[in-house]
Amino acid sequence: MSIFILMFLLLLHSSSSSSSVLPEPPPKIPTVCIVGAGIGGSSVSHFLRTYSSPNPNLNFKIRIFERNGVVGGRTATMNIAGDTFEAGGSILHPKNLHALSYSKLLNLTVNDPSSSSSIGIWDGKKFLFKTLSAKSKLPFVEKIISLVNSVRIFLRYGVSILKMESFVQSAVGRFSKYYESFESRPIFETVDAMLEWAGLYNLTTSTLRLELDDAGLSPLLIQELVTVITRINYGQNVSMSGLAGAVSLAGSGGGLWSIKGGNWQMAAGLINRSDVALHLHEEIESISFLEEYYELNSTEGKSYVCEVAVVATPLDELNIQFIPPVSIPKRKLQHTHTTFVRGLLNPVYFGLNVVSEIPELVGTIEDPDIPFSSISVLKQHDEKNMTYKVFSRQPMDDALLDSVFSARTETIRINWGAYPHYNAPEVFAPFILDGLHLYYVNAFENAASTMETSAVSAENIARLILSRFFGQVPLSTANTTFSSVGGEGLHVDL
Ligand SMILES: Cc1cc2nc3c(=O)[nH]c(=O)nc-3n(C[C@H](O)[C@H](O)[C@H](O)COP(=O)(O)OP(=O)(O)OC[C@H]3O[C@@H](n4cnc5c(N)ncnc54)[C@H](O)[C@@H]3O)c2cc1C
Ligand SMILES: *[C@@H]1O[C@H](CO)[C@@H](O)[C@H](O)[C@H]1NC(C)=O
Ligand SMILES: *[C@@H]1O[C@H](CO)[C@@H](O)[C@H](O)[C@H]1NC(C)=O
Ligand SMILES: *[C@@H]1O[C@H](CO)[C@@H](O)[C@H](O)[C@H]1NC(C)=O
Ligand SMILES: *[C@@H]1O[C@H](CO)[C@@H](O)[C@H](O)[C@H]1NC(C)=O
Ligand SMILES: *[C@@H]1O[C@H](CO)[C@@H](O)[C@H](O)[C@H]1NC(C)=O
Ligand SMILES: *[C@@H]1O[C@H](CO)[C@@H](O)[C@H](O)[C@H]1NC(C)=O
Ligand SMILES: *[C@@H]1O[C@H](CO)[C@@H](O)[C@H](O)[C@H]1NC(C)=O
Repeated sequence: MSIFILMFLLLLHSSSSSSSVLPEPPPKIPTVCIVGAGIGGSSVSHFLRTYSSPNPNLNFKIRIFERNGVVGGRTATMNIAGDTFEAGGSILHPKNLHALSYSKLLNLTVNDPSSSSSIGIWDGKKFLFKTLSAKSKLPFVEKIISLVNSVRIFLRYGVSILKMESFVQSAVGRFSKYYESFESRPIFETVDAMLEWAGLYNLTTSTLRLELDDAGLSPLLIQELVTVITRINYGQNVSMSGLAGAVSLAGSGGGLWSIKGGNWQMAAGLINRSDVALHLHEEIESISFLEEYYELNSTEGKSYVCEVAVVATPLDELNIQFIPPVSIPKRKLQHTHTTFVRGLLNPVYFGLNVVSEIPELVGTIEDPDIPFSSISVLKQHDEKNMTYKVFSRQPMDDALLDSVFSARTETIRINWGAYPHYNAPEVFAPFILDGLHLYYVNAFENAASTMETSAVSAENIARLILSRFFGQVPLSTANTTFSSVGGEGLHVDL
């Protein structure tokens, strides 16, 4: 060996040992693992990144596990004859401020609020009540029709309709406290505390029927219009709890909106912006606490080490094994069967002569003999060719569909474990499942299940993690720009 090389090697060796050129092992950064890539899981990742960004010393990795091949969970679209329709969570309220700020942040396009559909209340034999279709090319005509409809509604239900509105406004107003700044809004360790702080807890302790009785609504309004709305939005009747009922009624007001191309894009965009390792097609089977970290095992036979674990999916129908076991109150999910039909309704089924007499939205009262909760027109291709969405508690079999429809060229069925079956008084699972660093976003779903409530719960969970695990002192108000979109008129969108 040449002396030069030998000297060089010696030199290299001495210099490396004396001035530590050898790389040190990188400091281990903690990992936050999130199970579920719906709006809840994606919102946790978004708020973790947003709220920790002003602190350069807060460094952590985020992994999201999703058993499906796509993100979005219960927000998903269906393609029928070249058009895209929402199959799950479809409408957003003008006061859903997180969803609004997501759509701005992600540059998503908001659908124009659709003009009101005509509504009919079907009792199994006849329509108890109908409004006129406001779909006209002339805005002037639309205004008049919507005025006529308001008069019709007022004539049937009287001042009760105004009392219903103020009941909803009061609940919406209280919910808005969840957007207050960090200075005035605490971090909540339990769902109960979170609801009590906003003055919403009492609404979860009694049924919607009792709450509306107290608010002075007439039995006719409760039996008819209110029941129609709760059956559409939650597949349940007025014996559901008051808070979920109020949320459901809020989803029948004006100014409702959605994301063009599909609400799932909110989850997709948030994950894309949050520096997340996304594991699609990977279902988590077990979460074990091993003294200093959690070990998450997936169906792919892989194991992941996570200092913080977040469950962002309902646990009610899952068999994720927790070691040690966690205990949560029993909760049943309400299954909603969504059936898309391309074809034409059968007027004879509704005791009518022509299809055009069937309202664009057929709602139903509570009667075990009525086999569906609602049927709505999604699109009219031409006179004999429409796309409909049917909601029902039981699957719609072919024989049943053949009696309700006179023609069917395409039928798509989805069985959703859609939302909790609400029972007053509600009992809530903990946000912190093990008293340590295992969190549960969907504990809040017993209050109400919507895209926005998932985001609100996720935001609180992100704050819990930052304060409990990272010891981050509450930052000043987050930089989210909130605004609302306008609109009015009573209509229910699907
Ligand atoms: C038919 C229907 C209509 C609705 N209408 C509305 C509406 O109009 N407006 C509204 O705001 N809300 C509506 N909702 C409710 C709304 O869709 C939900 O509340 C919301 O989307 C829930 O989001 P999430 O992220 O909490 O849960 P999910 O969207 O259910 O996300 C959970 C995710 O976790 C995944 N997952 C589950 N287990 C595992 C596992 N072990 N490992 C890995 N991944 C797992 C699931 O695949 C899923 O993607 C509706 C829901 C349904 C079903
Ligand atoms: C936002 O979207 C619109 C239309 O989709 C597009 O024209 C515009 O360039 C986008 N803006 C940004 C900043 O991406
Ligand atoms: C909730 O109910 C309790 C007991 O009935 C009552 O004291 C309290 O004032 C109520 N809270 C709200 C916000 O209505
Ligand atoms: C409403 O639903 C509950 C079950 O959720 C059921 O027990 C009750 O009979 C229903 N009410 C009516 C009026 O049918
Ligand atoms: C992710 O975000 C980048 C910009 O940050 C954008 O160019 C890209 O299209 C996004 N991808 C998806 C799938 O949304
Ligand atoms: C998870 O996987 C690891 C590594 O394969 C294994 O040692 C452990 O027993 C698994 N845990 C459970 C609960 O199956
Ligand atoms: C109905 O309309 C859709 C979309 O325009 C079209 O694809 C389909 O062929 C039509 N079906 C019938 C029976 O006309
Ligand atoms: C909010 O925005 C201002 C200016 O854009 C910035 O200085 C501040 O750090 C931001 N705060 C947070 C919490 O992001």
